[in-house]
Amino acid sequence: MHQEIITKFNLLKERQISIDITRGKPDSDQLDLSNEIVDISIPSFSEEGVDLRNYGEPFGIKEARRLGSELLDAPIENILAGEQSSLLLTYQTVLSNFLFAEPIPWKDLKNPKFICPVPGFDRHFMMLEDFGIDAVPIPLNDDGIDLAAFEEELNKDNEIIGILCVPKHSNPSGEVYSDENLSKMFQIGSNFSEKFLFLFDHAYLVHDFLPTPEQKPLWQIATEQKVQDQTVITTSFSKISFGGGGISFMATAGHSLELIKRVRTTMIICPDKLNQKRHTEFFKNVDGIKMHMNKHADLIRPKFEIAYSYLEKLSADCGSFSKPTGGYFITYSTAKPIATRVVELCKELGVLITPAGSTFPKNHDPKDSVIRLAPTYVSKEELEVAMEVFITSVEIAHLDINI
Ligand SMILES: Cc1ncc(COP(=O)(O)O)c(C=O)c1O
Repeated sequence: MHQEIITKFNLLKERQISIDITRGKPDSDQLDLSNEIVDISIPSFSEEGVDLRNYGEPFGIKEARRLGSELLDAPIENILAGEQSSLLLTYQTVLSNFLFAEPIPWKDLKNPKFICPVPGFDRHFMMLEDFGIDAVPIPLNDDGIDLAAFEEELNKDNEIIGILCVPKHSNPSGEVYSDENLSKMFQIGSNFSEKFLFLFDHAYLVHDFLPTPEQKPLWQIATEQKVQDQTVITTSFSKISFGGGGISFMATAGHSLELIKRVRTTMIICPDKLNQKRHTEFFKNVDGIKMHMNKHADLIRPKFEIAYSYLEKLSADCGSFSKPTGGYFITYSTAKPIATRVVELCKELGVLITPAGSTFPKNHDPKDSVIRLAPTYVSKEELEVAMEVFITSVEIAHLDINI
């Protein structure tokens, strides 16, 4: 039995493979879907007569804000249309609170902390670290955050200032938070403090590739719970049009809106309105976005299906895996504490996987079990090879074979 796996490993090694599945990026066939945006002919003026070639409209042109309003289901006055990165808007939100939050700027708190569901997005943890904000991990369930753990952490610590999460197709394990989970999260957080910040990174809002449970618009749930001032939702076109070349949006209200406006006024005179116009001309409205996303789904779905078909070959004793219906990632959770070893073995065979631990604050996965797989940015043929390498490595590490 062992000899068979060892032979497989050696044969794979002889092939001198070189494949990188570390990052969730759109593949070039997906980017091709938006090529027209580059050449689209646009007028020099916005629908309100604003000269798109000049400074002005710090919170985005009307047509871009309207598109954001449709996408996030929030009133246009609550929408900011920014430049190309939602992560930047999230960072600016944290920065604005760090410098100017009332009554106490976060920089003046002794030991501010944010709740972060795990596994999570490595850049979120890095961002909080930049500000000296501790990330307090809580588990994720199939329907969203573990509410009991959330409440328990809040009861333990009064310096928790917010939560940062990906509410749909969570990065990396793909959970879609239920409406009930979101409502309860709002209730628990706002009862804890009227300044508690709900920061939602909605990067995968329209990124379903298989039938996905419905989720009410977050803004609607926030409105029902009367927490719009404490809620910030960000999203972008990075995985709709071009990675790092789309438009970003934010929905928020009250003091949170004032804070972001304040900090952005100092740092950027206005976003790229020409790119905003190109995007609004190309997509027109939310139906245009959804039709476009169906084309992405047709390109992505087969890759996830390939990945699932390989993972299914592994014995359930080795571990389990998430089967997301959208987004860009799959997580594999090993039954034994061997994630680091699996990633090392893959590397030895020429397949690069996101370092084990990176989906946890401070790169510390207490069980050393979570591995993030990103199947989109390779051809189907390469993915087949990468998955063969992956399952072989899991088997070797699981059986503790010396290689
Ligand atoms: C959860 C999440 N948020 C944000 C981003 C980056 O988005 P943007 O390019 O809009 O900054 C990514 C990209 O991988 C992501 O996975």
